[in-house]
Amino acid sequence: MAVVAVTSELPGTGLERLAAVHEVRRHPRGSPPSAAELAALAAGADALVTLVSDRVDAALLAACPSVRVVANVAVGVNNVDLEAARAAGVWVTNTPDVLTEATADFTMALLLAVTRRLVEGDRVVRAGAFTGWRPDYMLGVGLQGRVLGIVGLGRIGRAVARRALAFGMTVHAHDPAPPAGPGLPVTLFSSLDAMLPTVDVLTLHCPLLPATRRLIDARRLALLPRGAYLVNASRGEVVDEAALVAALERGHLAGAALDVYEREPEVHPGLPGRDDVVLAPHLGSATRETRAAMVDLAIDNVLAVLAGRRPPTPVVEPGERGPGTGDRE
Ligand code: 8YV
Repeated sequence: MAVVAVTSELPGTGLERLAAVHEVRRHPRGSPPSAAELAALAAGADALVTLVSDRVDAALLAACPSVRVVANVAVGVNNVDLEAARAAGVWVTNTPDVLTEATADFTMALLLAVTRRLVEGDRVVRAGAFTGWRPDYMLGVGLQGRVLGIVGLGRIGRAVARRALAFGMTVHAHDPAPPAGPGLPVTLFSSLDAMLPTVDVLTLHCPLLPATRRLIDARRLALLPRGAYLVNASRGEVVDEAALVAALERGHLAGAALDVYEREPEVHPGLPGRDDVVLAPHLGSATRETRAAMVDLAIDNVLAVLAGRRPPTPVVEPGERGPGTGDRE
């Protein structure tokens, strides 16, 4: 029986399955563990089940040399130092595919909410300020015939493209390594800067990497046409949040819908007071069935490694050499 350290309460039945064959050591319910609490939890464990809020770095891996696998319950692995894991000979796994459709659905919810002023309207009704319908009241913009620009044409980016096409949008996309034949009527741009002036709505679906940190900065926001919208359900650090607030303040952008934040869970103070922004608390994959499937896949990864088998969805394989950029989202 191995010891598996788990940093959080997890939905679904995956943990019960794990506990039937291994000892589960769980961080008590409440706030995410501090670095010291995480090291104490992982010390002597054979496997570690983490969330994106848990920083897995060289110091942590050095403090728990018995850990053979870090199973992240997320497709993004930006919270894990992949090079350190490779150097330590530890498997790192993620949870791709199972969250693709839920995250794409939520992206469309953000897109519709910001362009049709749904949250702003909700606030008006709740405040008792809805005094009657008028033909020119609270007008938004329609999606039919508009151009959606997608950054990152991985699994989630393609799932968003399919939905946007069904809404009658034209889809442009930029990906430094586009999938061979995306199989969709999408116009690919090899240059992000060349795509930005062509889009009405920009949506981000790239992983957080050194190359994508603050990818959408003041200069690139200025390349978007006046009146464009930004949607972000990837990672907050892909957007320079202060530059986004400035672009909204000067009316260059018509609105933004965000599920993720640069200093999550903190939100830039310039955002909550604005009617032209929709703010969600990192809900992209938050359906019961998706979260249960993510936990199941993470547990399958742990069980495989502990049984001496190759895990189903590895990002880092012990002994491999390579740049280790992680998987596309
Ligand atoms: C997760 C996510 O729900 O998978 C990811 O990368 O951002 C979300 O789907 C969240 O990170 C929980 O760990």
